[in-house]
Amino acid sequence: MGLSENYRLWKLFILLFLQIYLSNGLGFPFRGGLRYLHDRAKKTYNMTKIELKLIQQPIDHFDNTSKTWKMRYCQDLEFYKTNGPIYLLIGGEGPLEEQYGLLASGLVYNLAKETNGAMILSEHRYYGKSLPIANLVTENMKYLSSKQALADLATLIKHLKSSFKSDESPDQKLVVVGGSYAGNLAAWMRLLYSDLVDAAMSISGPVLAKVDFMEYAEMVGNDFLQYGTPGCYDKITQKFKSYENLLSTPKGIKELKKKERICHRSDMTNKENQNLFFMKKSDELAGVAQYGSTFDFKIFCEQFKISSRTDYSLEGTIDELPDQKCIDVDFHRSFKTVDSWTYQTCTEFGFFQTFDSNNQPFTHNLPLDFFFKMCATMFGPNFDKKTVEDGVKATNALYGGRNPKITKVVYVNGDTDPWHTLSVLKNLSDDAPAILIPKSSHCEVMFDIQNESIAMKQAKTKIKSLIKSWIGL
Ligand SMILES: *[C@@H]1O[C@H](CO)[C@@H](O)[C@H](O)[C@H]1NC(C)=O
Ligand SMILES: *[C@@H]1O[C@H](CO)[C@@H](O)[C@H](O)[C@H]1NC(C)=O
Ligand SMILES: *[C@@H]1O[C@H](CO)[C@@H](O)[C@H](O)[C@H]1NC(C)=O
Ligand SMILES: *[C@@H]1O[C@H](CO)[C@@H](O)[C@H](O)[C@H]1NC(C)=O
Repeated sequence: MGLSENYRLWKLFILLFLQIYLSNGLGFPFRGGLRYLHDRAKKTYNMTKIELKLIQQPIDHFDNTSKTWKMRYCQDLEFYKTNGPIYLLIGGEGPLEEQYGLLASGLVYNLAKETNGAMILSEHRYYGKSLPIANLVTENMKYLSSKQALADLATLIKHLKSSFKSDESPDQKLVVVGGSYAGNLAAWMRLLYSDLVDAAMSISGPVLAKVDFMEYAEMVGNDFLQYGTPGCYDKITQKFKSYENLLSTPKGIKELKKKERICHRSDMTNKENQNLFFMKKSDELAGVAQYGSTFDFKIFCEQFKISSRTDYSLEGTIDELPDQKCIDVDFHRSFKTVDSWTYQTCTEFGFFQTFDSNNQPFTHNLPLDFFFKMCATMFGPNFDKKTVEDGVKATNALYGGRNPKITKVVYVNGDTDPWHTLSVLKNLSDDAPAILIPKSSHCEVMFDIQNESIAMKQAKTKIKSLIKSWIGL
């Protein structure tokens, strides 16, 4: 593949990210890049085989007087034969439709095919159209938590088990699968509801909640150091240092705004706006580290080297987004609308990708305090440092962090994925093994990508054989 061809692919890739973070202005989200992997997997799904369904759930599972709402899920019985296992693909922080590709190819699709299984896809409360309360304002967000979401899944599983049950299939096996945050949910489902779940596949799941996730930026830098072209890491360091220098004088700010196409209305003397700018710039690299192949690092570095403009990633792509003539870098406008995933980070997980480490190339212009201000700006003054810290503590106490007492779960990670440092990387026991796939990215193992490495092939074989053995096949 020539450089120009790869460049096109790379531009498409960056475009997908731009669409995500230009639209919500948030830090690096899990979800956007999965589309890139879906795209690389290049499979279309047959909509007609997907049955969309609704299931009633209480708004609050821990209050028996609670009102109810309807959660979306869908089922695909293409391979199902009586008494085959049920594979529940747990939806994470995005709409149901984003995951349809998993019903058309990939690890779970192949496993369902090999075992005559049913495939079920669920939508997480407060995402997509699964809204317990329609109006997303702070006071209505209190029923959003992983614990409530797991209870939703328990209700769904009980319903599935009873509806699939027949004389010929008295004891149907159920396997949960999830990638990224949903990878956490898969493991936690097996932990809290082991009577309902026979086995779990936890893919790229950052199961350890952490307030200051400074390792993320370290990993992004390290990926470029290892897989980028020679000198690329230093170039990144210099570039970020130059942003810092430009932002220190009025003349420099003027120059930076022009180069980076920052809107006139964005006040770049404001500290939080500066932090936000650094976050957006690092997101471009984080996107490559989180979802790219080792080849993508080189392509990115080539562009980085030859471009004299600092907005290299926007060239050519920004014009394809008709309404985005300039980039608005404004802290308050970015965080004024309630966002479900941000709520979960502020109340349960942290995962704040600061530049606090000395061992990363992005300067120190993204401190923890920025994220606490983000929480307070979006949800009100009660959502402060203490809320985040208490939430993170409670999460790790409930789910056991990286050392849960758990069986029949396989933890799978890719070692170029910056999230993998928060996952389970060593075997907890024979019944709870960990697989770390070299040169593999976030959730890549769920997809059938061209030119798979031998390690990737072996990992998939191992995962399938573990799951089969745990459900007695
Ligand atoms: C899509 O699925 C439906 C139902 O299973 C089937 O009748 C139809 O032939 C499929 N279409 C394609 C293009 O595969
Ligand atoms: C609800 O729960 C409370 C306390 O657990 C219990 O006393 C009460 O009987 C329950 N009510 C219903 C309708 O189940
Ligand atoms: C985990 O156990 C498997 C055997 O089931 C072994 O092959 C592998 O090397 C172990 N992995 C680690 C990280 O120790
Ligand atoms: C896959 O590998 C072959 C041989 O190494 C190469 O020619 C081809 O371009 C690769 N395809 C992709 C999509 O990377």
